[in-house]
Amino acid sequence: MPDLILSVASVREVAERVREITLAAPDATTLPPFEAGAHVEVRLPDGDTRPYSLVDLEGSAAQPLQYVLGVLLEAESKGGSRYMHALRPGDSVTVSAPKNSFSLTDSAAPALLVAGGIGITPIASMATALRAAGRPYRLVYAGRSAAAMGFAEQLGACHGNGLSLHCDDEAGGPLPLAPLLQAATPGTHLYVCGPRTMIEAAREIAAAAGFAPEQVHFELFEQAAPQSGDQPFEVEIASTGQVFTVPADKTIIEALEAEGIELIHDCLRGDCGICQTGLLEGEADHRDVVLTDAERAANNLIHICVSRARSARLKLDL
Ligand code: FES
Repeated sequence: MPDLILSVASVREVAERVREITLAAPDATTLPPFEAGAHVEVRLPDGDTRPYSLVDLEGSAAQPLQYVLGVLLEAESKGGSRYMHALRPGDSVTVSAPKNSFSLTDSAAPALLVAGGIGITPIASMATALRAAGRPYRLVYAGRSAAAMGFAEQLGACHGNGLSLHCDDEAGGPLPLAPLLQAATPGTHLYVCGPRTMIEAAREIAAAAGFAPEQVHFELFEQAAPQSGDQPFEVEIASTGQVFTVPADKTIIEALEAEGIELIHDCLRGDCGICQTGLLEGEADHRDVVLTDAERAANNLIHICVSRARSARLKLDL
């Protein structure tokens, strides 16, 4: 489906550094439908795109007149959230049609929805869909503080006792996931969206609590960002012998695409697994949330959208 050119209908501050941005067709016609967990890719002025989940608090995803986004202004913004936070009503924005890589399953089993921070955006839509379908769910929303947690009031009004809020500052620490997952009804499907630390902990605790891998669904809500101390390294393309340098502030995908190499990717943040590539030589610095600890230790796969090198060179099976 071609891109959509939409207008900013409204902008609203919903929490510290979080804005609700509502987009609509300029002629106010219905937009393409979406399902809970879906996102659109917003095209930035430099041609890059950024994914933003669609927030559906009203059950209007089947015939939406608006797309509602919740956007956190990232401290380390590479431009995406800064662009979004500069939008004003009437501005024009180009977005993809909705895409979904974080869908609810058809299972009638109970759903445990866990959101960390701005990860609430797809999770809120899931709660809306489950409530409308009369399916059992529990919604748990954690954040640094009440002031940093957007949409909490509306969620409370919609879900009542089905919603639990956790403020790190009031509780004296992060959401304790172990008791939550250990108390879940057998067969529960877990959906988690939030920062890397939350997803890694949830996957580990869920496995220990007896969740099968197909019962655990997650989406990372964090863009790949350079970390202090990142160094340049080389990548060798096994099929051609070409060697390229990956600068400290670029990912492997960015560096190779700049050289004209076509690669398959989607999320660009290390959670979909599509860019997984064989690693033939060298040691990876894994920054995805796809590989298990055992797979990381095997050191023969790498997600080239986020992961880097601990060795001077990586030889990739490309
Ligand atoms: S593109 Fe999704 S994990 Fe790399």
